[in-house]
Amino acid sequence: MAELFSPLEIGPLKLPNRIAVAPMCQYSADDGSATDWHLQHLMQLAYSGAGLVVVEATGVERRGRITHGCLGLYSDANEAALDRVLSAARRVALPGTAFGIQLAHAGRKASAQRPWEGGQALTGEQDPWPTVAPSALPFDTGWHTPEALDDAGMDRVEAAFVQAAQRAVRLGFDLLELHGAHGYLIHEFLSPLTNRRTDDYGGSLENRMRFPLRIARAVRAAVPEHVALGARITGTDWVEDGFSVEDAGRFACELRDIGLEFVGVSSGGAVPHVRIPTGPNYQVPLAEQVRQQSGMVTRTVGMIVAPEQAEAIIAEGKADQVALARAFLDDPRWGWHAAEALGVELQLPRQYERAGKALWTGAQLIRH
Ligand SMILES: Cc1cc2nc3c(=O)[nH]c(=O)nc-3n(C[C@H](O)[C@H](O)[C@H](O)COP(=O)(O)O)c2cc1C
Repeated sequence: MAELFSPLEIGPLKLPNRIAVAPMCQYSADDGSATDWHLQHLMQLAYSGAGLVVVEATGVERRGRITHGCLGLYSDANEAALDRVLSAARRVALPGTAFGIQLAHAGRKASAQRPWEGGQALTGEQDPWPTVAPSALPFDTGWHTPEALDDAGMDRVEAAFVQAAQRAVRLGFDLLELHGAHGYLIHEFLSPLTNRRTDDYGGSLENRMRFPLRIARAVRAAVPEHVALGARITGTDWVEDGFSVEDAGRFACELRDIGLEFVGVSSGGAVPHVRIPTGPNYQVPLAEQVRQQSGMVTRTVGMIVAPEQAEAIIAEGKADQVALARAFLDDPRWGWHAAEALGVELQLPRQYERAGKALWTGAQLIRH
C-alpha cells in the first residue's frame, strides 16, 4: 500500500489519502463572487483523486482581496455564488473528497493587477483601493503605501475573519485554513521585515505573533468542532533577520495550543527581490522542522510533481500531507495517474471508468 494513499485524520476530518490540491487564485471572481470559471475549475478538481481540495485565497473583506478578480466571502452574494460552486463540486466528487477554503487578507499586497495584467499595484485608472498593513511601508517602489492598522482597524479585520469563517462553515466546508504566508496581512505582522510597530504588536516575536494569534483564537471560537481548522504559515522569509524556520515552529506551537489542527508550510513573499533556492522539494525541510517542533499535522508544498516524489515525502515521515498546485493545473487527474503509478486501485467516476489503466492493448497513459 502506498503511503500517499493511506488515510489521514486532521482533527475531526478523515481524508482518504495524503494528496491535497493547494489553494490557487483564479483571478476570475466578480466583486468576490465565484463565476462559471470556478464552477468548472472546482468540479474537475473534485474528481482529481486528491483527498482534499482547498479553494483559493478568499478575501475576508473587500479591501483584503489581492485583485479585482479575487474570491471573497464578505457579502451574501459571495456566499450564494460559492454555494452554487461547492454544491456542484460535491455532487461530482470522488467518495471521501473533502473541501477546504483559505481565508485571507492581502494587507499591503492588495489592490494589485491580475498576474496577466502585470501583477503590479493598480494604477489610478484601475479603480485602486486603500490598503492596510502593520506598518505604513509599501511592498516595493510603485506600490501603494498602506495605512498602519490602529486598534479599531485590527478589531475590524479580526471581525471580518470571524464573519467569513462563519460563512464558510455555513457553506459546509470541511476545513478552514488561515492564510499566514506569502507576505499577506498575517505574515506581515509576523515578519520583522514588514512589522516595524513599536506597540504591543511589534518588536519581539511574541508581540509580532499577537495579532495573528488573536485572529486564530477568534476564528477557533467561531468554528464548530466538526470543521477542521488550521493555517498556511511561512517557513522562512529567506532573508537574514527575517522570519525563520525556528520562528515558524514557535508560531505553529502557539496555533496548536489555541486548538488549530494542521499547518501547511510555504515560504517567501514578505519582501521583493529575494533569492529563493527553489528546486524539487525545496520547502520540505521547512515542513519537517515545523512538524518536529510542533507535533502538528503538517502539509508540505512546492515543486512536487512526480507520484514517487510525493510518496517518498510521506513514507520518510517528512510531512503528513503533500499539496500540489501547478501539477493539478497541468493534469487535473493527477490523483488517478499517481494511483496508477504507485499500484493503487482508485475508484474513478463510473462515467469515466473505461479510461483507467490500459485504454486498449498497447496504449499508454502519459506518465509524469
Ligand atoms: C495560479 C496559482 C495561484 C496561487 N494562489 C495561491 C493562493 O490562493 N493561496 C496560496 O496560499 N498560495 C497560492 N499559490 C501558491 C501555491 O499554493 C503553491 O504553494 C505554489 O504554487 C508551489 O506549489 P507547486 O510547485 O506545486 O505549484 C498559487 C500558485 C499558483 C500557481
